[in-house]
Amino acid sequence: MELTAAQRAQYERDGFLIFPNLFSQAEVAVLRQEVARLTDIRADEVVREHTGGVKSLFRVHEGDGPTASAPFRALVRTPRLLRPVQQVLSGDAYVYHTKINAKPAIEGTPWMWHQDYNSWSKDGCPTSNMATFNVMLNDTSEFSGGLYILPGSHKLGLLESVQDTSTSYKLWSIPKQKMIEVLRASPPPVPVVGRAGTGVLFHCNVLHASGHNLSAEDRWHIYVSCNAVANKPILGENPRPDWVVSRNWYPLPIEDDGAVTKAA
Ligand code: SIN
Ligand code: MN
Repeated sequence: MELTAAQRAQYERDGFLIFPNLFSQAEVAVLRQEVARLTDIRADEVVREHTGGVKSLFRVHEGDGPTASAPFRALVRTPRLLRPVQQVLSGDAYVYHTKINAKPAIEGTPWMWHQDYNSWSKDGCPTSNMATFNVMLNDTSEFSGGLYILPGSHKLGLLESVQDTSTSYKLWSIPKQKMIEVLRASPPPVPVVGRAGTGVLFHCNVLHASGHNLSAEDRWHIYVSCNAVANKPILGENPRPDWVVSRNWYPLPIEDDGAVTKAA
């Protein structure tokens, strides 16, 4: 799938693009079945809430490791997902990490306002030539803890961040007073909602957050975070593990667009 000139201009302006119903319900069904299988795995790649439920499932895109999944490996290589990533990163890309985030019905907790590059700059990635492709694995509303994106906020550049420890995953987030200031000076955040299969591509400096899941259904999203091959991290002394900062920086090849359902 090739982004049009208008879509590329929109990405430049807003820092994100939404693709309603990009993946079919049949593809989503295959991926959801995989999520059900993966949630039983006990490994470092499966980050759990203090209560034991899954918060994030990492590294589902590779052919090896405890959380390997053929359908998710196929998903990241589809032209629908990978070609727009290559376009916005202006060349070869690789997967920095994949994570499937859960938000259980009634209990699923927020993700604080942050820029993904708050963390990735600390991993040693030299520039912000990075982006994430989010695919909704169930219908998502504001009420079920969908993302909010602050349009145009990637143009603020990298903001100072502090580590939020209020949830089970330590996240570099924007300090409260700074975020209040930014929100007051910005257009309203956009709630990113849609049917299962909807895709969202966003710049690593765009401010985003998500709220509580107050609905009756679990919310499942996959985040395929990508880096330009030319921007691989200069790793420091204690780099984060490979499942969150991939060392596989070979250019990801575009493969069969129909491979997700074939991998079932
Ligand atoms: C993220 O921004 O990394 C996750 C947000 C979410 O799952 O709602
Ligand atoms: Mn994020």
